[in-house]
Amino acid sequence: MTPTRVLTGITTTGTPHLGNYVGAIRPAIAASQDPSVEAYLFLADYHALIKNQNPDEVAQSSREIAATWLALGLDPEKTFFYRQSDIPEVTELSWVLTCSAAKGLMNRAHAYKAAVQANETAGEDPDYGITMGLFSYPILMAADILIFNAHRVPVGRDQIQHVEMARDIAQRFNHHYGETFTLPEAVVDDHVAVLKGLDGRKMSKSYGNTIPLFGQPKQLQKSINKIKTNLLEPGEPKETDDSTVFQIWCAFADEPERQQMRQAFAEGIGWGEAKKQLFERVNDELAPAREAYDRLMAAPEELEEILKAGAERLRPRSSALLETVRDAVGLRGYR
Ligand code: TRP
Repeated sequence: MTPTRVLTGITTTGTPHLGNYVGAIRPAIAASQDPSVEAYLFLADYHALIKNQNPDEVAQSSREIAATWLALGLDPEKTFFYRQSDIPEVTELSWVLTCSAAKGLMNRAHAYKAAVQANETAGEDPDYGITMGLFSYPILMAADILIFNAHRVPVGRDQIQHVEMARDIAQRFNHHYGETFTLPEAVVDDHVAVLKGLDGRKMSKSYGNTIPLFGQPKQLQKSINKIKTNLLEPGEPKETDDSTVFQIWCAFADEPERQQMRQAFAEGIGWGEAKKQLFERVNDELAPAREAYDRLMAAPEELEEILKAGAERLRPRSSALLETVRDAVGLRGYR
């Protein structure tokens, strides 16, 4: 029986924060341990170029994200862990797909539409600052998915449309050139927590309200102390419902610990004390991984080797698929 191929990409921009850990990294690593699936996890570094054109930041972020996933327990022997830019067939396929993907389909992509909308609101030319990379982003993403004929693609809500576009593009190609690609399906997990940030809104780099994952303990403590709370004094009972402190606690605690904290809130635990306990809990969970992270960040050649090995294991598959695609579209040797 062929295993289910589950594939997802991580755009390599920014520094991982607690929200990424709880909402994406921790569940993805857990899912990659399911022996009935073949897991593909890659660093979408070509996608990063659409968002960031500072070379040093691009390079740094890619390294940090690679080290983060490995430090948190991703097993590169059991999972295909690789960089998009180490699989040249991805960009080759992307061009072939570009030639059959409908422009009208791309016009409807939310990310592109939002950029046009923002320009119009600002009274700018509609295409101001919009690169072809941003416009064609869903085609590159389709190539990522189709190059390994992934069955399932776990993504956040904002990415569902892109996976549906990949499916559309594959369907159109299959219809015109013959059965070539597996039609992928987006998988959205509604149970993973969307962590709140320092100001109570969704933790996100774009809001500047994040708690870095692998800062030094002092920095973690400082961030946690900045979490917005109300002005209730110690001794006054507190609501758990929209408390960010309580929400983050729950993302790290087991059921009995959640009950204990709920009780402590009802009994009026002071914010300072609640934050101190939160810091200790989060720090306990992250300390061993932080050590592994620091070690990997200091060993770039080791990281490089792991990622190169991941790509090498996959190249036979991506080359074989590309051969089929070339033949299907008529790019054939003359002999
Ligand atoms: N666009 C995705 C994001 O920003 C990352 C990504 C790139 C991806 N290629 C992919 C996700 C292929 C799933 C499959 O989150």
